[in-house]
Amino acid sequence: MSLDDLDAYLEHHALHRAESGKGGDSIFTPFPDSREVDGARSSRKHGWNKSLDEPGWIRTWGAFVEGRVVGDVELHGGDIEATRHRAFLGVGVQRPHRGTGLGRSLMETAISWAREAGVAGIDLGVFEGNSRALALYSKLGFEIVGTFEDAFRVSGQSITDIRMVLDLRK
Ligand SMILES: CC(C)(COP(=O)(O)OP(=O)(O)OC[C@H]1O[C@@H](n2cnc3c(N)ncnc32)[C@H](O)[C@@H]1OP(=O)(O)O)[C@@H](O)C(=O)NCCC(=O)NCCS
Repeated sequence: MSLDDLDAYLEHHALHRAESGKGGDSIFTPFPDSREVDGARSSRKHGWNKSLDEPGWIRTWGAFVEGRVVGDVELHGGDIEATRHRAFLGVGVQRPHRGTGLGRSLMETAISWAREAGVAGIDLGVFEGNSRALALYSKLGFEIVGTFEDAFRVSGQSITDIRMVLDLRK
């Protein structure tokens, strides 16, 4: 995505995060409300323009339906020089648009871009119980490297985070 998409992206970002823990969804994000949106604007505005050797680089791809963003996948580069070869992935599709292949397609786009860009590994965390996301990541080759009990406390709930990695060096 580019700066022209920033407002559409942020609208999606807020709508999607508001679904966490509601309407049949388990909690899937550590950010329980929209207070982070100002931070999201600033980090994307700057991160989208950063090259891959700068701290704070971000690349985001969106799924658009009738001009609105309904899903996204993001890669965030490592913050320090020693982790700059890796990226952390986040993905989300708004509830009415799930189960139609958008999540898989977004993930495949990000993975193939990362491979081309020379990213050595993609890391992610998925909250225990999020079986749909776990199934998707496993099908795409991510492997579980650890289970982090009480990694987050969201709205008073202790969350176990499952850490997964896709090794792109092979
Ligand atoms: C996880 C998520 C991104 C998947 O996106 P999606 O568009 O719904 O997924 P897709 O339609 O591309 O399906 C991908 C895989 O998900 C799984 N899946 C899809 N619908 C499913 C369902 N109803 N139940 C269980 N698994 C399901 C299947 O394994 C499917 O594999 P396939 O492509 O071989 O059929 C999306 O459901 C979502 O945003 N969920 C809430 C936010 C979230 O959990 N984000 C990830 C946090 S780590």
